[in-house]
Amino acid sequence: MKNVLVIFGGKSSEYEVSLRSSECIIKNIPRDKYNVYTLGISRNGDWLFYDGEVDLIPNDEWISSGKTSPAVLSSAYGSRELLIFDNAGEAIKERIHIDAAFPVLHGKNGEDGTIQGLFEMCGIPYVGCGVLSSAACMDKAFTNLVADAAGIPQAKWLSFNSYDYSVNADGIISDIINKLGLPVFIKPANAGSSVGISKAKTEADIRKAIDLAFEHDFKIVAEEAINARELECSVLGSMQGVKTSVVGEIVPKKEFYDYEAKYISDDSELLMPAPIPEKVSDELRALAERVFRALDGKGLARVDFFLSKDNGRLYFNEINTIPGFTSISMYPKLFEHTGLPINELIDKLIEIAFEI
Ligand SMILES: Nc1ncnc2c1ncn2[C@@H]1O[C@H](COP(=O)(O)OP(=O)(O)OP(=O)(O)O)[C@@H](O)[C@H]1O
Ligand SMILES: [Mg+2]
Repeated sequence: MKNVLVIFGGKSSEYEVSLRSSECIIKNIPRDKYNVYTLGISRNGDWLFYDGEVDLIPNDEWISSGKTSPAVLSSAYGSRELLIFDNAGEAIKERIHIDAAFPVLHGKNGEDGTIQGLFEMCGIPYVGCGVLSSAACMDKAFTNLVADAAGIPQAKWLSFNSYDYSVNADGIISDIINKLGLPVFIKPANAGSSVGISKAKTEADIRKAIDLAFEHDFKIVAEEAINARELECSVLGSMQGVKTSVVGEIVPKKEFYDYEAKYISDDSELLMPAPIPEKVSDELRALAERVFRALDGKGLARVDFFLSKDNGRLYFNEINTIPGFTSISMYPKLFEHTGLPINELIDKLIEIAFEI
């Protein structure tokens, strides 16, 4: 039996999503192979070992359940210990050996290479992409650079930081309009779940969108808007072998797939598999694998594409290295449709964590 530490919550705008994803993962980890321990990170960044009911996690009641104790991972390389303190935070009351960590943290500090760096320091194997890969996949400007270098088709784009904008706002705005056309998407380079993203149709919109995006990051990516269907593919594996899922389609009920559409209104339609010709599906799956490999992917990722309604071409949009993992999320659902049930998928992900 191996001891797996599932880490949930986190200081990120996707805290609630993480609670729901971790509920699903905790409930589906094969218990004949793994002992599961859970650690929640509060919105303030406190680390709390949690030994209460799983059902108190998704509604955020875990935190006031009285079943938490302050905890840290020992940073001594290779000790692989979770140190649990008494509630005064003074004495260590328990040490748990950890064989692997499973970070179920979306967005900042979870999906961006930072916690992965901590696991590397501690010598703890972990599920998912490594430090550089996570960071590059989280940052839309770096992702786009790597995709360009790898010859992956994507929307025309440009990026700039808050210093560039402070000295040359007018030049940047005219570059956006001249090189990308209208409408454009304005996005913080690092965010996720559509937070801070706008579709801008006029110059005035662009200025507003930029101000909003700078609330979330110091760097912005502007992209040509593709009039498109939205297709997604789940990827599992490592450099030693990659498996892609059938393709799924999201049919947003709103103008674009924003945070509300994703997590609140819940009326976007998910089609699995997507009603597209086999040839397009094959091409998309091959592209998804190329994106994953180009970015040193390991473990899991959901790779998202646009299928242009104007020219029928596929454009890579983005890669998520810790995609939504609730029981109704695309990532596990697409593999279910590919013949890989969720408990086997999770088992594979943990096995890959031990690969060099
Ligand atoms: N270039 C584009 N052309 C057309 N639509 C776009 C473009 N970029 C983004 N969108 C729309 O905005 C949504 C959010 O954008 P994107 O996927 O880049 O953001 P995200 O915040 O990283 O989301 P995720 O939660 O998937 O990580 C897309 O699903 C799509 O509906
Ligand atoms: Mg997206």
